[in-house]
Amino acid sequence: MSIVVAIDGPAGSGKSSVSRAAARALGFAYLDTGAAYRALAWSGLDRGIPLADPAAAAAAFEGFDYSIGTDPDDTTVRVGAVDVTEAIREPRVTEVVSLVARVPEVRARLVELFRGIIATTTRPGIIVEGRDITTVVAPDAAVRILLTADEQVRMGRRSAELSGVSAETTARQLASRDAQDSRVVDFMNAADGVTTVDSTDLDFDQTVAAVVALVRDTT
Ligand code: C5P
Repeated sequence: MSIVVAIDGPAGSGKSSVSRAAARALGFAYLDTGAAYRALAWSGLDRGIPLADPAAAAAAFEGFDYSIGTDPDDTTVRVGAVDVTEAIREPRVTEVVSLVARVPEVRARLVELFRGIIATTTRPGIIVEGRDITTVVAPDAAVRILLTADEQVRMGRRSAELSGVSAETTARQLASRDAQDSRVVDFMNAADGVTTVDSTDLDFDQTVAAVVALVRDTT
């Protein structure tokens, strides 16, 4: 049985880069669940599906042939034969991904898919990162972490990542996405038994070290 490490947190908390680096340090697999929601949103846009309609968004799962790499050094995301690893980060996808993620049927199907990936990992452990991993996808994970940081710090980090977009626009989009996503799942407060890692005053390496230490101490 592989060790499961569940990490949740809001947008801009550094979850993805921290989880990937911690997985690399531990020799674990890494699953970015947000990438799956994004791939489905990308596929919906590509097929002209009106994602604002929940029934249409749910139906978008039909014919959604998707794969995601779980090697921290190769997390290629494909929809059919198309490599969408870069495309799913585009603002047009980020803008609509919450519409897909709010649909219960979509969540149920993806949760099932994530559990399948977790169950078949061949590495000694897997870091799974998203919004509902500590509470829904893997509530029995050996290590459960809420990775957070002050809102101003998260917005600053995210706007440093995105060139060509004003800091105000980034801040507005991030706050609006967190607000929409929070209506569906609570990732702002740690559930019972979940350890909070607050990276407000930590740099990247210190945050990775904190996660790695928690895994080593717990397992
Ligand atoms: O983590 P990332 O920002 O790439 O996630 C993209 C979107 O996917 C989130 O804004 C949220 O709507 C959705 N998501 C989710 N549950 C997860 C992971 C992501 O609802 N476990």
